[in-house]
Amino acid sequence: MATLKEKRTCGQRCEDFGHFVWNSDNGTFMGRTPEKWVYISLYYVAFYVVMTALFSLAIWVLMHTLSPYTPDYQDRLQSPGVMVWPDTYGGEVIEITYNTSDKASWMKMSNILHAFLKPYNETKQFECNFYNCTKGKYFIQKTFSAPHHTKWSCPFTQSMLGECSGLEDPSFGYNGTRPCVVIKMNRIIHFLPSDHVDLPPYVNCTILDGQENVARMDYFPNSGVMDLSYFPYYGKLAQPSYVNPLVAIRFSLVREKQAKIQCRVVSDKISYENYYDPYEGKVIFNLKALK
Ligand SMILES: *[C@@H]1O[C@H](CO)[C@@H](O)[C@H](O)[C@H]1NC(C)=O
Ligand SMILES: *[C@@H]1O[C@H](CO)[C@@H](O)[C@H](O)[C@H]1NC(C)=O
Ligand SMILES: *[C@@H]1O[C@H](CO)[C@@H](O)[C@H](O)[C@H]1NC(C)=O
Ligand SMILES: *[C@@H]1O[C@H](CO)[C@@H](O)[C@H](O)[C@H]1NC(C)=O
Ligand SMILES: *[C@@H]1O[C@H](CO)[C@@H](O)[C@H](O)[C@H]1NC(C)=O
Repeated sequence: MATLKEKRTCGQRCEDFGHFVWNSDNGTFMGRTPEKWVYISLYYVAFYVVMTALFSLAIWVLMHTLSPYTPDYQDRLQSPGVMVWPDTYGGEVIEITYNTSDKASWMKMSNILHAFLKPYNETKQFECNFYNCTKGKYFIQKTFSAPHHTKWSCPFTQSMLGECSGLEDPSFGYNGTRPCVVIKMNRIIHFLPSDHVDLPPYVNCTILDGQENVARMDYFPNSGVMDLSYFPYYGKLAQPSYVNPLVAIRFSLVREKQAKIQCRVVSDKISYENYYDPYEGKVIFNLKALK
């Protein structure tokens, strides 16, 4: 087709282009009448308004289905991990080793426990968590009835750890051979540790190695129970003043004064034999008192 057209000079082409931009013969601008341009503009304005509305609607729906109080993806943790304090983690095994005749050595242990128990301070707990929780049953909260649109948390105070509270004996027994350790179970949002309301989770420690070196074990609170009123946990935003329930165990070391100990949180919903996660449901540590 092009070959049929006569060759045109550069000047003619420029003129053609000028005609295209503004054709005075039929009054078109860029090939269209101003009237058409108005319609096209209106069409695009309408198009973008509809697109923006759709996008906003999608975001709005998304925001309303998301809860700001719970993460949407929590596929990793099904059963909680367990930790022990003093947390003197050195390498593979947890070694809680201290020298009873070296004050700096055992003070280090008791200082770790004092720091760990800071949030459990009586005054602080009764100021922040003054709700009267009913012991022995789950504290299910459907509404946000605590101040600042949050949920209540049950108080757990240092004194509940009895002899291991650090209140009467600030050394937690590390000045001698009756050291205390504190067991904490990690939080999992909405996790209910037991299907049986009459069977709350409890800590059970067993001596794996050095049976003859541990004369006795005392649990605080009584029987090493983690009361059900501390469950479920609703998340940091919903329950800003939540504290994990704790269990302390006082070991009376005799003879060689060392033992390999496993403390397990026992409950029907807590597993402890995960090959890939040795801290799931239990913690194993070496306790050793030097002289
Ligand atoms: C324990 O501490 C005392 C006093 O500092 C020291 O004489 C002793 O050697 C220490 N024991 C061990 C096993 O390190
Ligand atoms: C708890 O906190 C109060 C006030 O902050 C303080 O006076 C008190 O000594 C603390 N108690 C313990 C056991 O640390
Ligand atoms: C909890 O009980 C105590 C004494 O029984 C009372 O003084 C306090 O007001 C109660 N707190 C709530 C939140 O009901
Ligand atoms: C350790 O300290 C506590 C409290 O200060 C004291 O009652 C206890 O007799 C001490 N134990 C040893 C073995 O010194
Ligand atoms: C604690 O665990 C040991 C060993 O698994 C078991 O023999 C013992 O009965 C348990 N004690 C309680 C109170 O469950």
